[in-house]
Amino acid sequence: MSKNEEGRAVSKMTNSVKQSLLDRMRNTHQSSERNRMARTEREVAPPVRRKQTRFEDLPEYKQVLTQKFASEQLGIANPFYRAHQTAAGATTVIDGRKLINFASYDYLGLNRHPHVLAQAHDTINAFGISASASRLVAGERPAHAELEERIAAFYGVESSVCFVSGYLTNVAAISCLMGPKDLVVHDEFIHNSALAGIKLSGATRRLFKHNDANDLEHVLRTVSGDYRRILVIVEGIYSMDGDVANLPAIMKLKAEYGFWLMVDEAHSLGILGKRGRGTFEHFGIDPTQVDIWMGTLSKTTSSCGGYIAGSAALAAVLKASAGGFVYSVGLAPVLAASATASFDILEQEPERSAALKRNGSLFLKLAQEAGLDIGLSAGFSVVPVLVGDSLRAVQLSNDLMEAGINALPIIHPAVPEGMARLRFFITSEHTEEQIRHTVTLTAEKLKELTERNFGLASVDIQQMMNMLSAR
Ligand SMILES: Cc1ncc(COP(=O)(O)O)c(C=O)c1O
Repeated sequence: MSKNEEGRAVSKMTNSVKQSLLDRMRNTHQSSERNRMARTEREVAPPVRRKQTRFEDLPEYKQVLTQKFASEQLGIANPFYRAHQTAAGATTVIDGRKLINFASYDYLGLNRHPHVLAQAHDTINAFGISASASRLVAGERPAHAELEERIAAFYGVESSVCFVSGYLTNVAAISCLMGPKDLVVHDEFIHNSALAGIKLSGATRRLFKHNDANDLEHVLRTVSGDYRRILVIVEGIYSMDGDVANLPAIMKLKAEYGFWLMVDEAHSLGILGKRGRGTFEHFGIDPTQVDIWMGTLSKTTSSCGGYIAGSAALAAVLKASAGGFVYSVGLAPVLAASATASFDILEQEPERSAALKRNGSLFLKLAQEAGLDIGLSAGFSVVPVLVGDSLRAVQLSNDLMEAGINALPIIHPAVPEGMARLRFFITSEHTEEQIRHTVTLTAEKLKELTERNFGLASVDIQQMMNMLSAR
């Protein structure tokens, strides 16, 4: 046989092997599809010619246009998506102006800490930027295990597992652990990422009144249905309101109702407790009594990513079965190493956490004295100033920016209509003078807007809509 004939024979054989492999894969897929069809017992409707929906016709897009049009007509600048020209902390630079900044997650001022930067540089030099694969296959790097061991030790639990974002952590963990036969009960103010996880899980969802353990008990007592598993989700410090979960009262219900308790520590890691260990330290609770500790790496640890900490079995299940872990790239090694370095500082310098607490309570006290409505805030990392009207909140943010302060408005749908606010993120790095100045100006500017009756109430929405549709 000539070389050419040999080559043709080999390629013919390879093609037939490929074909048979594809056939086998297809058969498996088709039979599971047939099973699914049989299960749902749905009749296959005859094909209908459908017109494709244009993105331009989506109501969501029309809403974006309406908001843009309304702010142009009213001469209100858009406070969102403003680019910062430096690493934002207690101060920032926007449009070349240095501003006092209350819009950064960098709670303990670690984003530019020399130790964190050195670890980041070393890791980039050794590993580049990306993990370049899912950890399961080829993306595992030493920085991952180091971070996970550190987090587990921090909570005094057996194990932890890291994901590429905080948001994904909630989505992946909740949807992995819960399914259509299960029940999730959550605080009504829980973060959108947890809601997304619950939705994806297909579990039955019930909410209880904000931070009300009695209402939680009522829900647990009255839900009918024989659920396989029950999960209760709360936040250590609530992201929009800044109050602290009543963890001791909720934990008392565990023995009777047999649920897993998940605590989202996004805004409480490094903040609550004498050494900044979070909600368990704040209440003097044994951390092993909480089943699922969740946290983000984007806030106190000035990186990006999220984690779940708890038992070894929990971590093993997530590593084996959570879609957002298995089918997603590993956390960038540099981000894992930076987060570990931030944990170093957090543990070595508890005075940072103490400074944040001092600043938080000073802000809260001054705001109350100035007659500002700080809602439910307990005066730690998050202090909202409730404004009510969305337009007024946006304008207040713009007026403060004009006066040299960056604080962002939170409006519907992030909070219920009529509950718009400015959210101040407090850091250990703010000075007393910055806080005093900010509270005084906020009170002054809000008073001016209120006296002018500035807000949605003074806008003729219908006329605005007519103008928009006439364009
Ligand atoms: C309570 C809470 N959980 C989860 C997340 C998501 O975290 P990340 O922004 O790190 O993805 C956030 C974000 O701010 C949050 O506030």
